[in-house]
Amino acid sequence: HPVVKIGLLGLGTVGSGVVKMLENHPEALLERSGNDVEITKILVRDLDKQRAVDVPRERLTQNVAEIIQDPEIDIIIEVMGGEEETKQIVLAALEQGKHVVTANKDLIALHGAELSRIAEENGVELHYEAAVAGAIPILRALRQSMAADQIVEVMGIVNGTTNYILSKMTGEGASYDEVLAEAQMLGYAEADPYADVSGLDAARKMAILASIAFHRPVALADVAIQGIEKITQEKIAAARAQGGVIKLIGRAQRVGADVLVSVGPMVLSNDHPLALVNDSYNAVHVRGEALGEAMFYGRGAGMMPTASAVVGDLLAVLRSPQMAQGHAELRLAGVLR
Ligand code: NDP
Ligand code: HSE
Repeated sequence: HPVVKIGLLGLGTVGSGVVKMLENHPEALLERSGNDVEITKILVRDLDKQRAVDVPRERLTQNVAEIIQDPEIDIIIEVMGGEEETKQIVLAALEQGKHVVTANKDLIALHGAELSRIAEENGVELHYEAAVAGAIPILRALRQSMAADQIVEVMGIVNGTTNYILSKMTGEGASYDEVLAEAQMLGYAEADPYADVSGLDAARKMAILASIAFHRPVALADVAIQGIEKITQEKIAAARAQGGVIKLIGRAQRVGADVLVSVGPMVLSNDHPLALVNDSYNAVHVRGEALGEAMFYGRGAGMMPTASAVVGDLLAVLRSPQMAQGHAELRLAGVLR
């Protein structure tokens, strides 16, 4: 059976989760796609760092060209983060005819439309389910199951770090700094947690969600953003006294011909479905003309939940017609049995 070679960019929280998932169930992708996979090269910054997973040292490299220019590698999994430099790497990979799976919302919120176009022009797949709401398959649901409807509103909790912080501050009276440090330790926070607490990470995800839900590009610059930096125990107590709870809420609404998108702290009454979403969980509530209401709930951050979405995308690539066609050609050429 064919073994598809993969280049992994990044071996931090998410990259290690991807390696673990493939190690835990080595048979799963073969059984479900007909293809086996092997991660042959891994990009890191520090070759000597202690890792959450054991990988042969010779697979690690600091030189991205070794991966992008390797003709044997068919699929790139980008879990290194970053914007401009990473965009150039992903562009180069797509232009070399490699499929790309990424968890990078910074990249997709700014350059998703352009990268999707380049992927299409090069006949390769680009998937980024993990970029929004971790393990929750909300992008696929909006793109496929709900695509025929007229979506009216998408509202949700789409940042695990801030939900963890607000939940712990509310439930346990913990201090902001203490729980932010915990969220970093648990692997929920961005490399620079300013992106989480400022609302920027949620805004990136809402721009991606809105672009898909409303079938038009929604720019990050058009999202009104407020973070949770000014949420104090006093504000949480005031919300509680009114029978409510403070959550960082992303909202994208169709208003006439426009789509309005915002992120900010809101007081939700205790019986609101999103008020019950705690810890690092995310939830996305969708209203559509025909579907009425649908709610999606699950882990929004962390090693294995995020890896689940990344490896799900990898499976989608392995099952794609392009991969099947590539294998048919290799079989014809006598390279594959
Ligand atoms: P980490 O900081 O844990 O890991 C990043 C990895 O990429 C590290 O292994 C690092 O190498 C490597 N890396 C980063 N920059 C470079 C570079 N310039 N050259 C070589 N290697 C580099 O990040 P996460 O795993 O948490 O996140 C990865 C991506 O996934 C980000 O885009 C993030 O937004 C996204 N994401 C994260 C989620 C989470 O819960 N953590 C959830 C959903 C998406 P080294 O280890 O040597 O420093
Ligand atoms: N830092 C992000 C969060 C990771 O806390 O939601 C998942 O995208």
